[in-house]
Order: sequence, then C-alpha cells, then structure tokens
Amino acid sequence: MLTSIEHDLSQLFGQAFASLDLPFELGSVQRSNRPDLGDYQCNGAMAAAKLGAGNPFVTAEKAVAALNDNGLIEKVDVVRPGFINVFVKADYLAAKLTNYGQDDSFGCQQDLAQTKVMIDFGGPNVAKSMHVGHLRTAIIGDSLQRIFRFKGYSVVSDAHLGDWGTQMGMLIEGLKKRQPDLVYFDENYTGSYPEKSPVTIQDLEVIYPEESGLCKTDPEAAEKARQATLELQNGRSGYRALWQHFVSVSIATLKRDYGELGVSFDLWKGESDADPFIPKVIAQLEQKQISLVDQGALIVPFRDEEGENIMPPLILRKSDGAVMYGTTDLATLYERVHDDNANLVLYVVDGRQQQHFKQVFAAADLMGLNANTEYEHSYFGTVNGKDGKPFKTRSGGVMKLHDLIQMAKDEARKKLAESNFGADFDAEEKEEIAHKVAIATLKFADLRNFRIKDYIFDLEKFSEFEGKTGPYLLMQVARIKSILRKAEEIDAKPGNLLDTSENERSLTFKLLEFPSALDKTVEKRAPHFLCEHLYNLAQEYSSFYQKQHIMNEPDKAKQESLLRLSQICLEQLETGLQLLGIETLERM
Ligand code: ARG
Repeated sequence: MLTSIEHDLSQLFGQAFASLDLPFELGSVQRSNRPDLGDYQCNGAMAAAKLGAGNPFVTAEKAVAALNDNGLIEKVDVVRPGFINVFVKADYLAAKLTNYGQDDSFGCQQDLAQTKVMIDFGGPNVAKSMHVGHLRTAIIGDSLQRIFRFKGYSVVSDAHLGDWGTQMGMLIEGLKKRQPDLVYFDENYTGSYPEKSPVTIQDLEVIYPEESGLCKTDPEAAEKARQATLELQNGRSGYRALWQHFVSVSIATLKRDYGELGVSFDLWKGESDADPFIPKVIAQLEQKQISLVDQGALIVPFRDEEGENIMPPLILRKSDGAVMYGTTDLATLYERVHDDNANLVLYVVDGRQQQHFKQVFAAADLMGLNANTEYEHSYFGTVNGKDGKPFKTRSGGVMKLHDLIQMAKDEARKKLAESNFGADFDAEEKEEIAHKVAIATLKFADLRNFRIKDYIFDLEKFSEFEGKTGPYLLMQVARIKSILRKAEEIDAKPGNLLDTSENERSLTFKLLEFPSALDKTVEKRAPHFLCEHLYNLAQEYSSFYQKQHIMNEPDKAKQESLLRLSQICLEQLETGLQLLGIETLERM
C-alpha cells in the first residue's frame, strides 16, 4: 500500500501526541506553505491549546521529544507560538518517489469497484446539431468519467439523449407536411415499416428550426405538434417507427462530433427509455399522496411545514396527458436507483437547469430514492463571448460545435506555423498535430476554470504556447520526450532514483502531490484541480531542467537518476492529460 508523506508523518506525530494523552488526530501534518522553513508542518499543539493543553510551544516541544525513532525526518523545529516544522530525509523522499513511480496509478487507485457511479452528461438533442452549449458538458463529463474510473469506481456514462419532448411532434408534423403520403402517417396501416430512413440528418436540421419557429407564432401548428408528441408517447406505431429513424440518423452524426472531441459514452439511452418507468413512478407518487391534481395537471408540490410553497411544483403530466422533461428525469433516476443500483448519480448539466434538478431531486427524496443513492447536479457556468454574453457566431447565430472545432483547428495551424513547429513533418503528421492541439486547446481552456464559473471564449489566448494552456502542456510533454530520446542516442537511460538533491526536491514534492490533487478533483467533481497540478508540474520541470544539465552530467548514476525523474514526470503529465481527455504528441 502506497502511503503519502503526509500520511506517514501524521502517523508519527499522532503517536507522539497520543503518548502525551492528547488526541492522535492532532498529529495531522500538511505540506508547508513556507518551504524555506520546512517541507511539512504540524499545527497540532495550537489545536491542543484550544483543548486546554496549556502553552502550545511547550506542547510542541514535548511532542517532538516524544517522536519515535524513524527514518523520515531530517530536521524538526518548533517555532513560536507552537508550530512544528519538518524537513524530510532525502533518501526517504527518493524511496517514496521510486514506489510511486512504479505504480500504474501513482498511488491514486483504490478499491472502490463496489461503488457504482453513473454520470449523465452530453444530453444532445435529436435532430438538433450540437452547439457551444454542449461543449462544457461533453468536456467536463468525459473528464469526470475518466477520473472516477481511474480512481477505481465502477462508472457508467449515459448520453441521455433528448428524444421525447415536443420537438419530436414538431418533426413529425413537419415531415407530414412535406411528404404526407409516407406510410408512417397512415393510421390504418398494419404492415411493417421500411428499414431505410425517409429522412437524413440534413433534412431534420432543416425541418426542425422551421417547425420550431412556426410553432412560436402559429398556435395551430403548435397544437398539432403537441398532439403528435402525445400520440407518439402513447405509442402510435407509425410515429414510433418514424421517431426511431429520427433517433438513428441523429445518433450517427452525434457520434461523429463526439468522436472528433474524443468523447464516448457507455450508454446511448434517451429520455424515451424512461417511458416504461413513468407509470410506476406516477403510481407510487399518487399512492403515497406526494402528487396531486391541479387544474387537470398532475403535479408534485413542494411545501414547508406551514404549507407554503418553497419552489414551483414539478409537473408530471400536463392536462392533455403529455409527460414533461422533469417526468422523464425522475423516471430515469428511478431506473438508475432500482434497476442499475447506482450509488451516486452525477448530472453534468448547465447551471441554468439548477431549478429543474432541485425539483426532480426533491420529488425523488419524497419517494425515498435517496435511501442508498446520492444524486447531484454537478453544474457548470456559461461560455461567454468577449461582450460577456453567451458565445455566438460573428453574425450573432448559434455556434455549432462542429464549426467551433474547425475554428480551433485553423487557429492551431496558424500558431504552429508561426512558431515553426513541425515545419519539416509530412502533411499527415502536421494535420494530426493540428487536430490534437486544437482539442487540447478547447479542453484545457474549459477545464482549467472551476466548473461553476463562466468563462470568456478567447481562442487566440487559449491557443498560445505560453501560459496556462493546453498547447503549453502538449509542448512540455513533447519536450521531455525529446530529452529522453536524445539521451537514448547517447546511450543514457533512466535508472534508479538517487537521494534527492536540492534541485530535485521541489519537483519530487510536486510529483508526490498527484494523488491529493486527484482526490480533490473527485471530491469536488472539478477537473480544474487536476489542471492546476499538471500546469504547476510542467513549470516545476521546466525550472528543474534549466538548472540541471542532464545531457552533460558527468556522473553516470546521477544522470540515470535525473532521467528517471524526467520519465516519471512525463508519465504523470501524460496520465493526467489523458484524464482530462487530452491526447499527447510524440514530437512537435
Ligand atoms: N437535452 C437537455 C438539453 O439540451 C440536456 C439533458 C441533461 N440531462 C438530463 N438528465 N436532464 O438541455
């Protein structure tokens, strides 16, 4: 079992405090924020004073005197009013890193396979092409599924396709107008329906905006679409068959776009898959008198003890019988709890849907779905333009995800050419580099912000090779790779880590922080902690490399140790980037 230095030291100090008849927990040790004064610090004596243990300086001195023999500590100082500063031994540090370096997960993995985490992200809608609004859920959700899996959890991701709302009725009506003779519209038809779709995704992308625009201004059209949606939900066979085609052609395009981003899902279920669970959910809600009928609609009210409404009710069924977005979400959660046995369900969905999830979760709590399952809206902020408003195309239209990726690629090509990167590579490799740089640009720029914050989309800045950017990290990775390649040419290979010298110390500490950065990421469902770690690590390596001339190091064993340190650093950067969904390059 790999243990962190914090853990080892905390044990040691915990025992010392316990021997003074003080709580073991007081021995807790953290990384020092004053590296000149110590690598780690323990503030237990100050906490002990609050518990009535008297002068903290005296307690600290006693705790230090009570420390067991150990091979960990180089030097320990007690400073007023009662802080304990610790420097660790160089050979202990080297041994730690050796062990971590040999572990595939750098000590991150835990035995968590019995905990099932379902991650609902993506949420693309049938017949609508993905736009910038779908970028963050894809990037953050995908990174979280990678991170939770890496940590050891059983993870199931689900795209939760938007395939059951009124937009379906609009498509059906829109197609009926264009091709009224299609067999799907014949109510008396009893045969089987054609396998080939009567529409392509391009057709749908024309029909949908037209119909949706029309429904906004024409109540009659809206009424027709509503009726068609209801008939679809009630199982009219021609509509179901047609709907199946809409879904299939949409999924093919969605898979292309997600593929381009390097994002994948275990399940491609949709809102419609919740349909069989809706009667069960409604029956339970009615039976437990959680729901009630209000003006013909079935709702779940949310009231405090005085009977005051604390938020708007969740509408389960409209007066016409149609189910809503909240109904399908509640029924899907029911399925995830009862059939999938999920322990944790994360919804990586836009923060503008907070109210929706509050309602769904409150209804779920009333049903008792929270008995063994936690559910959480891990929401995110908006991608804004430089004007501070949601990001649009130059002409003010919705920015399609596909176009956004192309823009990032163009910018990557431009920046690569300016920096003269890969000037002599063949066209295919250049294209691969541009693609990977573009994806790294978009993903890192998104993930480096704490997810609930909005950010301003500034492609120019995101694509820089300097600063906290995806391209900077890719470049650092390629650089370490090239160092290791050049070393091999002079027959120098990574070997054993020697006792950590001054110059390697802070890089080594940084490498050892990986598990705690990852844990923070898991705990807050926020990959920006990992981004922060990787960026700092890349910078540490840079300054280490500047001071340390690895290639002309005369001492062979020392050189091998330095190369090993470089190699571990490379592996950690690559692992970390992979967890962000960013693919690295061999050279640039
Ligand atoms: N399709 C929805 C939208 O585009 C997002 C779905 C999010 N997931 C969920 N379980 N509601 O807004």
